Amino acid sequence: MKVAILTGGGDSPGMNAFIRAVVRSCLNLRPATSVWGVIDGWRGLVEGNFRKLTKRDTAGIANQGGTILGTLRLPELKDNRDMQEAMAFNLHDNFFDYLFVIGGNGSLAASNVLNNIILSKGLRTKVLVTAGSIDNDVCNNFGYSIGFYSAVDKSLEMLEWIRDTASAHRRVYIIESMGRDSGYLAFYAGVATGAEYIILPNDDVDYEELVNLIAERDRDTRIIVAEGYSKSADEITKILNEIFVRRKIKHEIRYVDMGYFQRGGKAAVKDIITASWLGYYMVKEAFSGAESGFYTCYFPGQDPVRLPLDEAVNSEKTTHLNIPDKLKEFAMALL
Ligand code: F6P
Repeated sequence: MKVAILTGGGDSPGMNAFIRAVVRSCLNLRPATSVWGVIDGWRGLVEGNFRKLTKRDTAGIANQGGTILGTLRLPELKDNRDMQEAMAFNLHDNFFDYLFVIGGNGSLAASNVLNNIILSKGLRTKVLVTAGSIDNDVCNNFGYSIGFYSAVDKSLEMLEWIRDTASAHRRVYIIESMGRDSGYLAFYAGVATGAEYIILPNDDVDYEELVNLIAERDRDTRIIVAEGYSKSADEITKILNEIFVRRKIKHEIRYVDMGYFQRGGKAAVKDIITASWLGYYMVKEAFSGAESGFYTCYFPGQDPVRLPLDEAVNSEKTTHLNIPDKLKEFAMALL
């Protein structure tokens, strides 16, 4: 059997653990398997850029952030049929039986398009996908995205650093969190650090109320803002400052973007072990001839949920960008 591994979209800690698990499970369970990495994600697949992988190539990488295979953004792929077909033929012509993909919702959509081309043209390769993204924006009804808990850990550490300096002053910190249009990272990080206020993508913020909260506090207020919220940090600052002036409240405002720091660094143990479990499980599925599909789980040892790709893509069943009310109620109770 010949297989390829692709890491797509924004890198996330745990992708390397997944690569390692696929390589090692293939070569340990069936030593005759030939395992290749797709270099630079979807772009590499369009260009047919593959590199053979050995067990040695994956030594010591399980906890490293980023991805040893690289991942380049390729927004054109969404609407470019020639590129989409090139991917399918690059797999077929090189005799790949399976493509293992780890990535976010963009990669899941790309995998589905690829699989539909493969099926319609009767080509050889099957596509097995799992979720890897700090955004946790896909399949959180059945599992979570690899890298999410690593990013929450990093965010928590940064938020505690900010607490130290913020509490030394009478300051309001507006702290932006990545997550694209999903509020999960901002929300979990905010709950973990005990932030005073969390603004999620679709929130309708009552700024007068928010200022009441700030005014009641003697010292720091940390406001976590999800990237997908409709107002920029500058706009939020302007609104707050206007209310401060009108109500004669004396607090300074500072802005911090946790951004790319949230995505980098070592993987959390949960991400390493779960990514490894998924990689191993998906290899075993391939060895039993599984059809293309999407795999996700909450913890190692749990049999992953398996969904057909077109069911996993853009389905309300699998994609929850908004935080469920019961989690919001839980967060409020801890304030
Ligand atoms: O999808 C992961 C993510 O980190 C998002 O949270 C963020 O909006 C985006 O990627 C940033 O992408 P890029 O690395 O292309 O700037």
